Amino acid sequence: MQQDQHFIYEKARKRIQQKKRFYIHFILFIIGASILYGLTLIKGFSLDNSPLIVYGIIAVWFVFLLLHFIRVFITTKFFDDEWERIQTEKLIKKHEKKVLQLEQKLQKQGVLPQVKKEKKGLLSIFKKKNSPTIIAAIGNNNELGKDNNLIWHLPADLKHFKKLTTGHHIIMGRKTFESIGIPLPNRTTVIITRDKNYKAQGCIVVNSLEEALTVAKKDPTPYIIGGADIYNQALKKAEKLEITYVHGDFEADVFFPKIDLTIWEEIKREFHKKDDKNPYDYSFVSYKRKTEL
Ligand SMILES: NC(=O)c1ccc[n+]([C@@H]2O[C@H](COP(=O)([O-])OP(=O)(O)OC[C@H]3O[C@@H](n4cnc5c(N)ncnc54)[C@H](OP(=O)(O)O)[C@@H]3O)[C@@H](O)[C@H]2O)c1
Repeated sequence: MQQDQHFIYEKARKRIQQKKRFYIHFILFIIGASILYGLTLIKGFSLDNSPLIVYGIIAVWFVFLLLHFIRVFITTKFFDDEWERIQTEKLIKKHEKKVLQLEQKLQKQGVLPQVKKEKKGLLSIFKKKNSPTIIAAIGNNNELGKDNNLIWHLPADLKHFKKLTTGHHIIMGRKTFESIGIPLPNRTTVIITRDKNYKAQGCIVVNSLEEALTVAKKDPTPYIIGGADIYNQALKKAEKLEITYVHGDFEADVFFPKIDLTIWEEIKREFHKKDDKNPYDYSFVSYKRKTEL
């Protein structure tokens, strides 16, 4: 699937889901309100004496339905993230122009010295930067996998992975994709391969890591999910690392590269003891790049 087509497809899919949820809400309202109203008409039924309570419930529900309608058909349609970004950029450009004019005026008057023009505008500060994030689970010796498969079953880590990556791009090497076998739901799967004819249904296929990051540039946090080959290349481009340390020794044939602590700063650590479902102790650790790329 072409990248642009995929974006349009994703946008359309989200829009359809929003509308579907509204229509279901609307139908539930009609049915619910009819039943409630019907109950007030049944003689001897407790609501028969107090129809005002029912009308009140229906009115409150209607307000919620109305708010839902406004959100789906007005707010989200016209005032989405893209609209907000364009408005912010317009406003910043306007202010930049004013500041520049004022600076020039003051320089002419000799109040301000003639200084070299700053290359970076305000806009560059406000422009949303995306943070490619590596996510991996590794053993005591940086073990990642064996025979193109994972080497442990740790449901807590799968849950953590799902929580972080849902709604985002997940970028992976062809081998990792084939070990998973399908595009993961509610995520945009980007596969990197050198094979120009490679196809996988419901996925974006690219021929380099750079291309994968370009595809995901509008995503604030695209996740690079492996495997070893891709991690090695991505370590130079990532802004964050989300590492699950699985506290155990494993037999492996692929390993995560060494994390250089002169480059990466640990910002969060969460230790968990093993339990009935998770056979190893494990720690969720987040790192951020110390210096800008
Ligand atoms: N523990 C974890 O968190 C974790 C996460 C992910 C994966 N894994 C494990 O890691 C293993 C797979 O890792 P791996 O290193 O063997 O393979 P991989 O990184 O998943 O995929 C390697 C493939 O990616 C493509 N590729 C790599 N660099 C490229 C580039 N610059 N341009 C274009 N294509 C490029 C090539 O595909 P083509 O050969 O098609 O050209 C290459 O063969 C499995 O055992 C898996 O279970 C573990």
